[in-house]
Amino acid sequence: MKKKWNILVADDEAEVRTSLKESLEEIIACTVHTASDGIEAFDRVRSVPLDCCFVDLRMPRLDGLQLTEKIREYDNTVPVVIITGYASLDVAIDTMRRGASDFLIKPFSLKDVMVSFKKVTRERALLIENVFLKQEVEKKKDIERLNVELGHKIREVTQFKDVMQQFLSVRSNEELYRRILDMSAKITASGMVSLRVLDKEKDELEMFAAIPSKEEWAKKIPIDLDRWIADKVTKEGVILSTKEISVPSEIANLFAGDKEPPFLVSIPLKIKDKVVGVLNCAEKKDRGSYSDNDLRLLDFLSRKASLTIENLGLYESLSQHFFSTLYALVETIEARDPYTCEHSRRVTDLSIEIARAMRCSDNEVEILGFAGYLHDIGKIGIRDNILLKRSHLTDEEYDIIKLHPVIGSAIIGHVGSMHTGQAIIRHHHERWDGKGYPDGLKGESIPLLSRIMSVADAFDAMTSDRPYRNGSPGQEAIARIKQNAGKQFDRNVVDAFELVLKEMPGEPG
Ligand SMILES: [Fe+2]
Repeated sequence: MKKKWNILVADDEAEVRTSLKESLEEIIACTVHTASDGIEAFDRVRSVPLDCCFVDLRMPRLDGLQLTEKIREYDNTVPVVIITGYASLDVAIDTMRRGASDFLIKPFSLKDVMVSFKKVTRERALLIENVFLKQEVEKKKDIERLNVELGHKIREVTQFKDVMQQFLSVRSNEELYRRILDMSAKITASGMVSLRVLDKEKDELEMFAAIPSKEEWAKKIPIDLDRWIADKVTKEGVILSTKEISVPSEIANLFAGDKEPPFLVSIPLKIKDKVVGVLNCAEKKDRGSYSDNDLRLLDFLSRKASLTIENLGLYESLSQHFFSTLYALVETIEARDPYTCEHSRRVTDLSIEIARAMRCSDNEVEILGFAGYLHDIGKIGIRDNILLKRSHLTDEEYDIIKLHPVIGSAIIGHVGSMHTGQAIIRHHHERWDGKGYPDGLKGESIPLLSRIMSVADAFDAMTSDRPYRNGSPGQEAIARIKQNAGKQFDRNVVDAFELVLKEMPGEPG
């Protein structure tokens, strides 16, 4: 469908308005709106979407040039053609300067009007197209910029999340320090990272570790610079970089000549305003300097790390307190029963030796260290008249004694991360053939550390005096344990036990 134009003719001469309206509506598809003065004309501009305005220069209330300026302010794409009977160069220049698109000099022909109309409407179409294209380009640029910003944000949030997750499962300061080093190297793309941590006894920051190694770090970062910046960060408690602070001349002189001083960023790890560590990053891999984003991430990492150090300290002191209480309980139990004096310590020592002979991990040996000592802690819940009975136990009494592994594992269960130790204690009276207690577990379904402890426990019980029988001499005890390999005991554990006894000075074997 052909476009129907909307045209305004504003002229105080009714004759001009009428003849122009009739002529235009006859030769092109259009509606011509008319106005007899500037104010009326501007009302039309606001009420009809116009394609072109023919405006007389001299009109009452608002003249042609004032109207043109108002139209420009309202919609600067609507072309205005000024009609004037007083043509001069000055008028023409002034007309165009004030925003008119063309002008017609009275008297004019219909052909003049059409030439002007086509010219200004074509220019307008181009102008609109340009504006539209420009807006599109701007919009595209905006979207691209937003995309880049979004990408940065997503990366940053992912890195924050990574940092938090890395610290969640940390169980010791050592493990935490390693993760701080790895994380800071990764998130800032640093080729070199080092960490100094507070040695509480010396009250000094000692180098804990570095990436790629302490030796490489020392080769590239002079010790004087390293110590100086660690001291400064400790005093000021804020992130510092060697690019933004002036290094003392005696240190700066180390880099005289062509040698560039290394660009270091140092971050404090603080607990309640006390600096307990200093992390250094250097040699950013893209050779650029550290961005604000890098510093923000390092700050976040140091805060999270500081909090984790504090929590680990609290946890450690709580655990220590809890274990001291438990060890005191063990001593109380053993003090009640002179025949089992030091039994727990001996079972622990022997269990650890067997575990080492079986090439158990350091972590497993560590678990045996406390689980061995606490394996009979459940006896705290057994009445003295049964526990200390010198004659043989009745079935009912024996059933009560058999509760002690369950009671013991329940006591240990109050320490959050002691699940493994809990299971070891619960199953230290299970038998390889499934005839043990409390759960009747069989073979390898019994935790290995429980199988180890079971042999050590049996040997110590046989070689110590018990209220209900006399202790067997060493050789006899060994023979009985060997006889029960594959029945009561795991054969591999018995082999390791034999090996341990053979190597033990002064032991039967
Ligand atoms: Fe026991």
